[in-house]
Amino acid sequence: MALLEVKDLSIYFGGVKAVQNVSFSVDAGIVYAVIGPNGAGKTTLFNLITGIYTPTAGTIHLDGESIGGKTPDALARRGVARTFQNLQICMNMDALENVMVGAHLRLDRNLLKAALRWPTLKRRDAELRDEAAELMRFVGLQDYINTRADSMPYGALKRLEIARALAMKPRLIFLDEPAAGLNPKETIEVDALVRKVADSGVTVVLVEHDMKMVMNLSDRILVLDYGRKLAEGTGAEVRRNPDVIAAYLGART
Ligand SMILES: Nc1ncnc2c1ncn2[C@@H]1O[C@H](COP(=O)(O)OP(=O)(O)OP(=O)(O)O)[C@@H](O)[C@H]1O
Ligand SMILES: [Mg+2]
Repeated sequence: MALLEVKDLSIYFGGVKAVQNVSFSVDAGIVYAVIGPNGAGKTTLFNLITGIYTPTAGTIHLDGESIGGKTPDALARRGVARTFQNLQICMNMDALENVMVGAHLRLDRNLLKAALRWPTLKRRDAELRDEAAELMRFVGLQDYINTRADSMPYGALKRLEIARALAMKPRLIFLDEPAAGLNPKETIEVDALVRKVADSGVTVVLVEHDMKMVMNLSDRILVLDYGRKLAEGTGAEVRRNPDVIAAYLGART
């Protein structure tokens, strides 16, 4: 059984059919890329699967369990994490605290219980700090552990988002354009980081415009165009698909 199974997924915003009858599945352990021209529906697809939007129609299954319409919180507890195309970092917090936010998302947040167990929580907080620092090292941010987010360069903030998502200990992570706005050297580094995340056992679904990165990294690729599935398959299959060639050589790319 696939880890993620999406069937006939659609969402309409008034007259805009942002995602239309999209079906695909992602096996555990792979790197899966979603590509397509601007406005093709890539981010909307992520928003549907990670619980930001409720589908107009269609089903989403995680490990056999129906998750369509569940909240981002509920999905986080089931091991689904994500990063955002536009950075969602708390700029007035330390880098480390931003990562700890991810860890808190997976913990018990019952307030009364928490008050009764304050010593346990204090101990847990120390553990979370260690864990967050370890994740910052994992993504290559060891030099920024005590830095405020607003004094970090953009490239480092992109990695910080990945660290925060990993703090949720996900099975499945969605990365929306992890290399957007990065220079070629930083792009290669993020490429290596995505590979490292996948090798650590987390299944990766990513949106990326950099074709070299997509072809290098991905086991399979889904191509969207105007909200519809244009093609799906391995890099070699997708590259020689006439519809894909037409869409990418067209004026809209
Ligand atoms: N909340 C919303 N309300 C109305 N329309 C929306 C909403 N979210 C997305 N859309 C529309 O859905 C379409 C797909 O947008 P989406 O952001 O998913 O594209 P994308 O493939 O991620 O593009 P890009 O490569 O530019 O990030 C666009 O026409 C967009 O305007
Ligand atoms: Mg997008």
